Amino acid sequence: MFGRDLLSIADLSVDDLQQLLEVALAMKRDGSPPLLAGKQVAFLFEKPSLRTRVSFDVGIAQMGGRSIYLSPAEIGLGVREPIKDVARVLSRYVDALVVRTSGHEILGELAHWSTIPVINALSDHEHPCQALADLLTIEEHKSLEADIRVAFVGDGNNVARSLAYACALAEIPLTIASPDGYQLNDGDREQATLLSGGRELLRLVADPSAAVAGADVVYTDVWTSMGQEGESLLRLASFSGYTLDAGLLDLAAPGAIVMHDLPAHRGEEITDEVIESPASVVFDQAENRLHAQKAVLALVLGQPQQV
Ligand code: CP
Ligand code: NVA
Repeated sequence: MFGRDLLSIADLSVDDLQQLLEVALAMKRDGSPPLLAGKQVAFLFEKPSLRTRVSFDVGIAQMGGRSIYLSPAEIGLGVREPIKDVARVLSRYVDALVVRTSGHEILGELAHWSTIPVINALSDHEHPCQALADLLTIEEHKSLEADIRVAFVGDGNNVARSLAYACALAEIPLTIASPDGYQLNDGDREQATLLSGGRELLRLVADPSAAVAGADVVYTDVWTSMGQEGESLLRLASFSGYTLDAGLLDLAAPGAIVMHDLPAHRGEEITDEVIESPASVVFDQAENRLHAQKAVLALVLGQPQQV
């Protein structure tokens, strides 16, 4: 993966995914060598973040590199100067860009004009670093080789899409329950089928019970993502009946785990009781952001023979 961008989980092959997970698990177990010594990574964040920003920052420091946070006000991406100029200037100073932006197309433009790897730290379309941490968490709690089924209840958003692509690459059956108008689309389904080598493992349904029944992993995310705050009342009404509560979780397989990328809106997509229950692995998931992203950086920036 040396020198490559990570804009979408669909950028990865099965071998890439396997290598990423292996490196992440090894670094989690054994610590990490200074693979990023002398490397500088710039963060361009147009939206708030706790987990992504801190875990990238800490992971880069742990591998001997340095990060530089650039706030939207400082850069004025596309306002103070064109995206293509920002990309070409930063390429002369730093070794990689970690970008959180609304428009997925902005990432594409940055990647096109940059001569350094660009990593998607969340866009309106995808959250690939989250999905890598999600698979790592499923591997640790259930094993990706096991005969498991994953359910996602809620909005067919960036997190759901990356999860769908990641499960497809890992050949894990995933059912997503979303209300009409909030489902992933046919293009996503086709992409998932392509990623799983032609197998149709992604199911899109409307009924949360149908998705959760017998599932080994039950995942949810906010109904109103960053930038959609103006729609929150409409979304509250549209997602009524989609709360992951104890009754819904009871339908899952015995020993099922509960996942959420966080931040959570308790009382909306998930109850306090469920997120605080023993089934919940949300903080393991948050920790795994660190290990998964260190693996990404090690593979795109490190000396391949050292990884
Ligand atoms: N899950 C996640 O990406 O969290 P942040 O928005 O806090 O980075
Ligand atoms: N879907 C959420 C994820 C936050 C990590 C959002 O985009 O706001």
